[in-house]
Amino acid sequence: MKAAQDENQIGVVGAGLIGMSWAGLFSAFGYETTVYDPYLKEQNLAHQEINEIWASLDLLFDGLKNKKGVKFSDKIADLKSSTFVQENVPEDLSLKQEIISKIEKIVSKDTVISSSSSSFMPSELQNGCTKPERIIVGHPMNPPHLIPVVEIVLGKAFSQEISSRAKSFYNSLQRVPVQIKKEMRGHLANRLTSALYREAVYLVSEGVADVEDVDTVMSNGPGLRLALLGPHMNYHLGGGEGGYRSYLEHLGPSQEARWKTLGQAPLTPELKEKLIHGIESQNLSMSELKIKRDNSLIKILKTKKENKL
Ligand code: NAI
Repeated sequence: MKAAQDENQIGVVGAGLIGMSWAGLFSAFGYETTVYDPYLKEQNLAHQEINEIWASLDLLFDGLKNKKGVKFSDKIADLKSSTFVQENVPEDLSLKQEIISKIEKIVSKDTVISSSSSSFMPSELQNGCTKPERIIVGHPMNPPHLIPVVEIVLGKAFSQEISSRAKSFYNSLQRVPVQIKKEMRGHLANRLTSALYREAVYLVSEGVADVEDVDTVMSNGPGLRLALLGPHMNYHLGGGEGGYRSYLEHLGPSQEARWKTLGQAPLTPELKEKLIHGIESQNLSMSELKIKRDNSLIKILKTKKENKL
């Protein structure tokens, strides 16, 4: 596996769900990786988590022979020699701005700072920075070591060169980086998932289906084909011989009629309890579910690769 030309030391800020997954991926692909988190208590558990991520990645990729042990630190100064920093602190704008400006003061002027932020726009994160164009969003989907897409979003201050560097770094990790053309709250992937989730919640609140049935319909229906082709290409196939043109002419009006009825339910305490009960009453072990999900994801990813999808 070939490393990106400009990167050798990678800094990861925040050792939560996303930071640990990134750190496992970066180190598996041979990058020297330092994770900074002042609240990390149990280093041995963190190393165990990295080993589990490596085990998953070994099922997915051949030839990850150059893994590098991850260094954990509670001192931000240990990020000093990072050429690329992936920031993963909690989704709180002022916290992110504060930590990004601290990182800026420590690292070299050429270091790229990429935030995993699910919703904040890079222009918001660049606020107060001395070299704002090197602050970008590199948004993954959970878990970043398995889900390949990374949305690269540039702010009002931007540099195409920095975007290309980020792209080549993520490519070197066998990711699928996509540069979003215009910054917008939630970027692209989370706008799509939010549109779907809003309706999933609305359907439960209206009593159209319970939580379990909504999930069953999605994961045994549209979800299966959406893992292979996007919404536009799926409807191209839905148009038969005439493709997308025919679909839009024939079934476009029924889409528009449904769009008018899509709903929105406020997340009241009662509705939240109903949603949580819908999940907890299924009594599934979270750790078993995670293993089954990850093992299935690996098989789907291999199938997609074999079929060039
Ligand atoms: P998390 O709560 O699991 O982890 C946050 C970590 O940051 C914790 O380990 C915490 O100790 C650490 N932290 C807190 N303050 C810090 C500081 N001042 N300096 C360094 N580390 C600090 O959060 P999670 O879910 O990993 O989210 C992190 C980021 O990733 C957020 O911006 C979120 O929007 C984004 N994201 C989350 C996804 C998810 O599904 N959870 C998916 C994609 C992106």
